[in-house]
Amino acid sequence: MVSFSAGQEAARRLLEGPQRYTCLAGVTRSGKTFLIVRAIVMRALQEKNFRHAILRFRANAARASIALGTLPQVVQLCFPGMPLKEHRQDGYFALQNGSRIWIGGLDDKDRVEKILGLE
Ligand SMILES: Nc1ncnc2c1ncn2[C@@H]1O[C@H](COP(=O)(O)OP(=O)(O)OP(=O)(O)O)[C@@H](O)[C@H]1O
Ligand SMILES: [Mg+2]
Repeated sequence: MVSFSAGQEAARRLLEGPQRYTCLAGVTRSGKTFLIVRAIVMRALQEKNFRHAILRFRANAARASIALGTLPQVVQLCFPGMPLKEHRQDGYFALQNGSRIWIGGLDDKDRVEKILGLE
């Protein structure tokens, strides 16, 4: 069972708002990425065949920190037992309902083009 810090709790409520863009600011290791990744997984679970992208400046940093770090931690703590299949060649994770979460970097032009080509 996951619990949140007071700052994360405030940010969690903020992420439920109607706004299109949200920027979280906080000290390092305060759980910003964890909370945003959790919100993205929740959205992906809500609708079938939804597509999401998590982008960092560099693709290798995105893979190391998100694909191999935060995302598995979020699944383990917030969605235990949820199947998540990695399609590493294509750069995304697939949920059982057909929703996908792409993880990429803006330094990789071909990959950006591929992701943007999917809307
Ligand atoms: N509510 C929580 N319960 C358990 N672990 C958590 C929680 N929130 C964050 N963590 C873990 O704490 C660590 C730091 O969190 P995270 O990477 O989200 O911080 P951050 O604010 O994005 O840091 P940075 O500014 O350095 O990117 C990670 O290992 C993350 O999985
Ligand atoms: Mg972070």
